[in-house]
Amino acid sequence: MRLSQPIIILKEGTERSRGSDARNANIMAARIVSEAVKSSLGPKGMDKMLVDSFGDVTITNDGATMLKEMDIQHPAAKMMVEVAKTQDDEVGDGTTSVVVLAGELLGKAVELMDKKIHPTVVIDGYRDAQDQALKFLEEISIKVDPKDRDVLKKVAMTATASKLIAGYSDYLSDLAVDAVLQIAEETDGGYEADLDMVKLEKKPGGSLTDTTLIRGLVIDKEIIHADMPKNVHEAKIGLLNAAMEVEKTEFDAKIHIESPDEIQAYLDQEEQMLREIVEKVKAAGISVLFCQKGIDDMVQHFLAREGILAVRRLKKSDMEALAKATGAKIVTNVDDLSEEDAGYAATVEEKKISDDKMIFVEGCRNPKAVSILIRGGTDRIVDEAERSLHDALCVIRDVVEDPRIVAGGGAPEIEIARRLRRYAEKLSGRERLAVSAFAEALEVIPTVLAENTGMDSIDTISEMQSRHEKGELWAGLEAAKGEVSDMYELDVFEPMQVKAQAIKSATEAATMLLKIDDIIASSKMRPPPMPPGGMPGGMPGGMPGGMPPM
Ligand SMILES: Nc1ncnc2c1ncn2[C@@H]1O[C@H](COP(=O)(O)OP(=O)(O)OP(=O)(O)O)[C@@H](O)[C@H]1O
Ligand SMILES: [Mg+2]
Repeated sequence: MRLSQPIIILKEGTERSRGSDARNANIMAARIVSEAVKSSLGPKGMDKMLVDSFGDVTITNDGATMLKEMDIQHPAAKMMVEVAKTQDDEVGDGTTSVVVLAGELLGKAVELMDKKIHPTVVIDGYRDAQDQALKFLEEISIKVDPKDRDVLKKVAMTATASKLIAGYSDYLSDLAVDAVLQIAEETDGGYEADLDMVKLEKKPGGSLTDTTLIRGLVIDKEIIHADMPKNVHEAKIGLLNAAMEVEKTEFDAKIHIESPDEIQAYLDQEEQMLREIVEKVKAAGISVLFCQKGIDDMVQHFLAREGILAVRRLKKSDMEALAKATGAKIVTNVDDLSEEDAGYAATVEEKKISDDKMIFVEGCRNPKAVSILIRGGTDRIVDEAERSLHDALCVIRDVVEDPRIVAGGGAPEIEIARRLRRYAEKLSGRERLAVSAFAEALEVIPTVLAENTGMDSIDTISEMQSRHEKGELWAGLEAAKGEVSDMYELDVFEPMQVKAQAIKSATEAATMLLKIDDIIASSKMRPPPMPPGGMPGGMPGGMPGGMPPM
């Protein structure tokens, strides 16, 4: 059959690349992202300063945050961002590691494909290696008591050792352990800790050691009227999501007033209505009122006269947290305030924090609500402290929920790689190469840790390998001294789940990118062009995919 006209399938402007071109472009984009975060891995890793389009500056060591702020465009590179996010959502730590590992898995895959090994063989080999690696990880993991404060603190200290706030790691880890143990709930066969119950509130000023754990909630608002009580004991709490003022009509109305008496009558009437609103609050027995909307000046005055503590314009999330903590029901009409729907807290108090005032709601009906009030010299320190505390809380939760740990410093990666190589010996030809490549890729973690510590990575890795051969299971890289030591004895503990999730997510991302052999990008969604030489141009009009310089 001969056609005299071309058949147009894709819209004009669509660009397409296929086969190894497509794969290589994706792999290169993903690896560039992985290279970008490498230098921040480990306690001696560097931080990154990111400036967004508004000029706002973020200084961080957190892999997920870095990638989120980087404004990455290339679709394959975006997958790395997603991998970090998944890691963050699932276990909260190891977000840099997972991206570095995924990049290395792709790098090793390219070497195999250069040796004419088909991508599907690599993918199968990687999947097999992943299953084995997870098995080995479980084998070497150590069971701990999920309520053992000492272990939990060490896990938190390892997670925060690599952060800007490392100097305060000890203090903040104690706080984080207290917080998680407070909210942990026993379930059949273990514990569960819902980190939504830990509210992090920030207030720049003071020092990081002024950070405190509050058994209750902190609300970043002030009491609205000077004559209201500054603290209330045995508080009956009302939560209102409605404005406390005379309702305005929705249409324009004119009132004709003919005498001064009528003006007075009109004003009296309005005052009466506002007084009634306050009466309703009082009738419901409420002593502390949190209002999501505004409160009229006159109402404030009447509330103050009744000795009711009131706060207005709360965030929705604060209202919800208060409802959860105090057991109050949020009502949308003053008429619905009632004694049964009121919440309880032992004290509600306004305290001065630096130049600001904040409301502390403590001794709530639900003792599982806690807050951490983060203090620190500047906005940026407070922000990074929040991210680090998030990591600390997550790793503690991970261990409380699945009480198995490993020691860090690259020791588990070296050990798993060693066992994988032994496993690979039993396999045939190509598959063996893929499993061995996976083992080598795992060693990127200790390699990068060594590089970031300023050590010779080849020497360090071979020393670690030979000590593992001799049965030193936890021989890893001690960053502080820059030597190979027993990481278990040094108390560098990490949740097994963080390592397991990193292996799973990195393998998944790498195999997904390896499987792609066709990129069809519509004209609007086209990845940005790659510099010359970045990708071998194959087909006419092929996708010059790639990454913008970072
Ligand atoms: N004292 C230490 N000596 C050597 N290595 C350590 C030490 N403390 C932690 N590590 C290692 O540092 C690595 C973690 O580094 P880092 O916290 O920077 O990255 P991440 O956990 O992968 O990502 P992120 O914390 O950004 O989510 C782990 O491999 C851990 O074993
Ligand atoms: Mg970490």
